[in-house]
Amino acid sequence: MSRLLLVNGPNLNLLGTREPDVYGTTTLADVEQLVTETAAAEGLQVRAVQSNHEGELIDAIQGAREDCAAIVINPGAYTHTSVAIRDALLATELPIAEVHLSNIHRREPFRHHSYVSDIAEVVVIGAGLHGYGYAVQQLARVLRGA
Ligand code: DQA
Repeated sequence: MSRLLLVNGPNLNLLGTREPDVYGTTTLADVEQLVTETAAAEGLQVRAVQSNHEGELIDAIQGAREDCAAIVINPGAYTHTSVAIRDALLATELPIAEVHLSNIHRREPFRHHSYVSDIAEVVVIGAGLHGYGYAVQQLARVLRGA
């Protein structure tokens, strides 16, 4: 069975209590459960990683080269700063879905640029928890070649 790597970046471990007016009350466990269930319905397994450290995220992304078919990533604030995470994603040559809970384009100008969007197959922004499920379904479609 093919596997997805789910990557959540810095501060996403605090989901549920962090700025609930922006990110809602959804927890990281809720995100991982939704992704696992949605992936299972598509015949896909999931490995979930969250880290507050850029290098750990890069190691996890590099590891996807071994045994994953696609990556769902919310890089958190590294979205707007990390050429290194972009390069790691490119090196995998895997289809990428970028997810943001909030609509980054309705927020501060420094959040408007993403180092990931132009290398992603799928970008889902501002749909909260549901964005992760939609990203999984769309990646499954890409993997089916449909
Ligand atoms: C975020 C948006 C980023 O700008 C922010 O730094 C995050 C979360 C989102 O999911 O909306 O940590 O990626």
